[in-house]
Amino acid sequence: MVTVVAASAAAAALFNVRVPRRRLGEPGALAPFDAGDEMSDTSSFLDQVERYSAHNYHPLPVVLERGEGCWVWDIEGTKYLDMLSAYSAVNQGHRHPRIIAALKEQADKLTLTSRAFHNDQMGPFLEELCAATGFERALPMNTGAEAVETAIKAARKWGYTVKGVAEDQAEIIVCTDNFHGRTTTIVGFSSEDQYRYGFGPFTPGFKLVEYGDADALAAAITPNTVGWLVEPLQGEAGVVVPPDGYFGACEEICRANNVLVLNDEIQTGLGRTGRMFCGDWDGDRGDILIVGKALGGGVYPVSAILANDEIMDVFHPGDHGSTFGGNPLGAAVGRVALQVIQDEGLVEKSDRLGTWFMDQLRGLDSPHVGEVRGRGLMIGVVIKDESGPARPFCEALQARGILAKETHHQVIRFAPPLVIDQETLEWVIPQVAEVLEGAAVAV
Ligand SMILES: Cc1ncc(COP(=O)(O)O)c(C=O)c1O
Repeated sequence: MVTVVAASAAAAALFNVRVPRRRLGEPGALAPFDAGDEMSDTSSFLDQVERYSAHNYHPLPVVLERGEGCWVWDIEGTKYLDMLSAYSAVNQGHRHPRIIAALKEQADKLTLTSRAFHNDQMGPFLEELCAATGFERALPMNTGAEAVETAIKAARKWGYTVKGVAEDQAEIIVCTDNFHGRTTTIVGFSSEDQYRYGFGPFTPGFKLVEYGDADALAAAITPNTVGWLVEPLQGEAGVVVPPDGYFGACEEICRANNVLVLNDEIQTGLGRTGRMFCGDWDGDRGDILIVGKALGGGVYPVSAILANDEIMDVFHPGDHGSTFGGNPLGAAVGRVALQVIQDEGLVEKSDRLGTWFMDQLRGLDSPHVGEVRGRGLMIGVVIKDESGPARPFCEALQARGILAKETHHQVIRFAPPLVIDQETLEWVIPQVAEVLEGAAVAV
């Protein structure tokens, strides 16, 4: 523990002192840290952000300028393994050559039409997205939160026009510790005080039930319930895996009660959990599937909802839209982003490597680790309360060339790009062991 605290103090001062750090020409390779003027460059970038950016994030003090596959480089030339993947938006790895080629090719032809006109990329993209997910229709948006808002609108309108709920009475059930984005409607039904505080008044019509408790869901359903909005595995809450069978059982409860399942797979989808969609672990993909992040291949915001005709037909011209949703640049990127996941077997890889990596992590002899949990390559290492928060451990990992980010104070999330290989993960394990087992650290 002492060494980790020391690592934290040193890491906090990382850019004011000269410290030896790994340059990772090869996994595990060491090179002397080259400080000097570059150090102040990093400091000045941090100062600039501190001065000009809203203070709505608390990033690790590293300034990245290049990425390739599962690796990124900072402005001092230090190479790091990206174990966060931009919260699972970079499943295909940084600057995947096929994705970058498609982006450039499309950028040279046509980038934005709005939905006032058709473009030649959106139709093929949506057809391929429907084929990849098993739904009849798709509605493209940009960010994840927009797609969640779209799903809420679809469920409500379905409730009024198909299910027969009285006007303005529709209820959607959500789960404790949910994370579905940052719009005012979405934070309004968060159970996290900080996400809500100062942003009310909020949109009514949401009911909170305990995540992981199928009976609580069943008990909360009323004739006005139109949907259950859920993450099949909660990412931002700290990689919380519900009990086996929970998702499937809840789907059955919803179907028995004519309630739609709004399956938010923005973070868990597209291979992240070792299945194409996390719902596949013990259920199906819900009635409205919500996708984003990796659908944009790590280069462009692309999100969508998917549903069958009965639900999607509630939308008529003018009901909903987005200037950038379905734009040809995003559609071209989305097409190849899906192809890469399929062609490179990233779903199977996530399952195989994730199982191996999680086993290795569980085998560590650490006084600090309470639990290792996850599915596929979405893994959370829970730091015991008595060992302090997860952040200093992430800082110590940074000093070893591994970028991971704490989530919910006590959890280190490991979610590398799915293009990572076994050899790289074999290099990661001793680094993590040194940090978590409290052995000597580099800073
Ligand atoms: C499950 C889930 N839903 C929605 C979102 C919001 O996506 P975005 O940040 O693209 O709005 C996130 C982002 O982390 C997420 O993890």
